[in-house]
Amino acid sequence: MSFSRKNPIKTSAWLKLSTHFEQLKAVHLQEMFSQNSLRESQMSVSWEDFFVDFSKNRWTSETIELFEELASELNLKESIALYFKENNLNFTEDRAVLHTALRSTEKTVVLGGKNIVEDINAVKHKIKLFTESVIEGIKKGCTGKAFTDVVNIGIGGSDLGPKLVCNALKYYKNHLNTHYISNIDGDELQETLQKINPETTLFVIVSKSFTTSETLQNANTIKNWFVSQLSEQALEQHFIAVSANPDKAVAFGIPNEAVFPMWDWVGGRFSLWSAVGVSIALGVGYDNYNKLLLGAQKADESFKNNDLKENIPVLMAFLSVWYSNFFKTTNEAVIPYSYYLEDFVPYLEQGFMESNGKSVDRNGEEVAYNTGSVVFGGVGSNAQHAFMQLFHQGTNLIPTDFIGFCNSLHGNSAHQDVLISNMFAQANALAFGTRGKEIENPYKVFKGNSPSTTFLIKKLTPETLGSLIAIYEHKIFVQGILLNINSFDQFGVELGKELSREYINSLENESNGYSALMQFYKENN
Ligand code: F6P
Repeated sequence: MSFSRKNPIKTSAWLKLSTHFEQLKAVHLQEMFSQNSLRESQMSVSWEDFFVDFSKNRWTSETIELFEELASELNLKESIALYFKENNLNFTEDRAVLHTALRSTEKTVVLGGKNIVEDINAVKHKIKLFTESVIEGIKKGCTGKAFTDVVNIGIGGSDLGPKLVCNALKYYKNHLNTHYISNIDGDELQETLQKINPETTLFVIVSKSFTTSETLQNANTIKNWFVSQLSEQALEQHFIAVSANPDKAVAFGIPNEAVFPMWDWVGGRFSLWSAVGVSIALGVGYDNYNKLLLGAQKADESFKNNDLKENIPVLMAFLSVWYSNFFKTTNEAVIPYSYYLEDFVPYLEQGFMESNGKSVDRNGEEVAYNTGSVVFGGVGSNAQHAFMQLFHQGTNLIPTDFIGFCNSLHGNSAHQDVLISNMFAQANALAFGTRGKEIENPYKVFKGNSPSTTFLIKKLTPETLGSLIAIYEHKIFVQGILLNINSFDQFGVELGKELSREYINSLENESNGYSALMQFYKENN
């Protein structure tokens, strides 16, 4: 069995959805609610510690049924089953996609005749032993002092995932302070180096390929800085690496036993569940890291087994395809009402836009429909005072996900009540606006009918965070299946990399052919 390669817009369900859209496009959410007083309960999904309200979206039970028809024409259920097994989903790079195996509780996941669970468990065991010895102060720095800081050097998926989790789980952290250096911006690097003491810092170089120029240049600069402060011999006590290319890591100077392996069947943006998450296990402890994986595994199980109507990521993906292809929206917002989730949007930006920013389908044909949307957002209630004016009164329709928690971690329930009331109020104002009210001043009219989905979660824990991230991962996958694109390659980032090498070359070797922009740079740097 393989994934369908059908063009979605040539299916009979798509045609039915187009007719259905014509009937629904002018219907106001307020009418949908007044026609059905049970709409909220009927269009919400309660799962584990999550309550997800899909009712403030511009759809009806008929829309969902038509999307189920589309899913069936495109073999979605079979594709979900295949996603958890040996597959060739990333066929343009001839790779399997199996990051779900990293959190699976199955004893066997076979790939190329090999049970990869054994390799996964061996690496997890290595992470456990290593991180526990650092946290407990058994493994020390070169001058005999216990470690106080961890610096993760990586970019893209080798940075965004672990950084999101470490910051989101700050409440659960131990004494180790985690820092993330990703950009080649030397000022950013310097700011971090100023905060740490090399004697008590562990450096984790994370690069699946171990060829990424930013990561290697940063790692080299830090290595030189470290040697200048301490010694060459001290390097091996302070540097570890995570890579699917261990030989390159060893050639860089990391001892073989300090290289944590990962595999080519783990995509960079889905890699926090692999050894890429070693800084998470360091920062919040191995038990919490394991709970994160457990939360993701629970979301995997429900994604695999739940009926499509009750399947959170599937419904989320239906909505994205519905809005971007029928309402012709180009943006989606995610607004978590939690300070801890500040890094969730940057993480999702890579997840969604690197995965589904494609315009060629699985048959190598140019698509004639919309694929991935721009994903953006920020933390509430700050977002309300920054960019949400446009959501309420602008000319763009921006489907929004709100994410909130029933409990504040530090127990400040008075603030939590206000915070979450703000979130409820935004969803309400977007949906209903001032409709039905006599407002004479046109500048004060809110048309409403702006869609949103609200996630209410009991509490931010390693487990609920793991589930939340996995739910969004699965949404990416479902969109890819429905839109007939490969969500797991990222050739789109290559051209810029090549050109930057050319620019570096011409900056280094004086040439006459400078553009005005480069000329200005040369004259002033
Ligand atoms: O340039 C994009 C990318 O390949 C991402 O997909 C990846 O997460 C990032 O670069 C980092 O790659 P690596 O882990 O190989 O350094």
